[in-house]
Amino acid sequence: MFPARRPRRLRQSEAIRELACEVRLHPSNLIAPLFVQEGDGPPTPVGSMPGVSRLSISDLAREAAELGALGIRGIALFPVTPPHLKNPEGSEALNPDCLVLRAVAAVRKAAPGLVQFTDIALDPYTSHGHDGVLTPDGRDVDNDATVAILARMAVLHGQAGVDFVAPSDMMDGRVHAIRTALDAAHLGRTGILAYSAKFASAFYGPFREAVGSAQAAGTTGLDKRTYQLNPANPREAIADALLDEQEGADALMVKPAGPYLDIVQQLRQATRLPIAAYQVSGEYAQIHAAARLGWLDYTRARNESLLAIRRAGADWILTYFAREMAQEIQVSRLKQV
Ligand code: PBG
Repeated sequence: MFPARRPRRLRQSEAIRELACEVRLHPSNLIAPLFVQEGDGPPTPVGSMPGVSRLSISDLAREAAELGALGIRGIALFPVTPPHLKNPEGSEALNPDCLVLRAVAAVRKAAPGLVQFTDIALDPYTSHGHDGVLTPDGRDVDNDATVAILARMAVLHGQAGVDFVAPSDMMDGRVHAIRTALDAAHLGRTGILAYSAKFASAFYGPFREAVGSAQAAGTTGLDKRTYQLNPANPREAIADALLDEQEGADALMVKPAGPYLDIVQQLRQATRLPIAAYQVSGEYAQIHAAARLGWLDYTRARNESLLAIRRAGADWILTYFAREMAQEIQVSRLKQV
């Protein structure tokens, strides 16, 4: 009578494994982050992110339409602000004709049904690279002054037709301030995807290269620990995320994703809102780097990294793999057994 149970019965063929499969990735789980740059020039590759480039507005619009055709429903836009437009106040963030808002309009034309998320934070616009304006002594980010600017920025984005503004700054009280400002401007349909549990992580390095926020600060070690979460603090992360829910967020984000799956899982138990997880630039770079060295199988490592995030409980995954993953899912759906 040994063994009494044979779990391997459920793993014995491709077809049975598919029947027994508990968690699947669908293109509608994926949100593609995209970088947009000024001018009509060709795409500018990001050195530490193979396959990722900064795109002109017209290339971006074309890319957005192609992503929509692949079944991707959402994109998250990040502008590369020309250095001469940066200052300590990040005032370009309040220019209604700024790069990212022109990009939003172009995408809306090329791919009307695509859901657009834009980042609400000052780091692409400040000369020091921080997510807000500094206190008079220059030693910290001024919370309340920053929140007031972010609320105005969110209204501009809502007026430009963004579907969800995504505050990624980690200032206190910003979701409430943004919701209040949007409603006062009759932008009740504009949603908020709050970067709720955003950790002070080393894994943002390649992104800061891509948007030029690290260079602007003159260092790759830009210290955001007075506002982003301590990687050692899960309780604080959940408490902060639930504050965003109370303040009116429509969806909550955990970032980075892969190293913080415990946070995704705990937040899944704590809220009924959709949860987004951001597989950040460094997670993407890691897989590419190891694959280039021949140390990991690229496709399998990529797929497993995304499945794990989904398994932990994320509804939406922001990932630089979105396009190729959606393509592959389409192909595998047509596969015969
Ligand atoms: C900044 C912002 C960052 C990312 C998204 N929005 C970087 C940072 O906080 O310095 C990182 C995304 C990535 O690494 O892919 N508000």
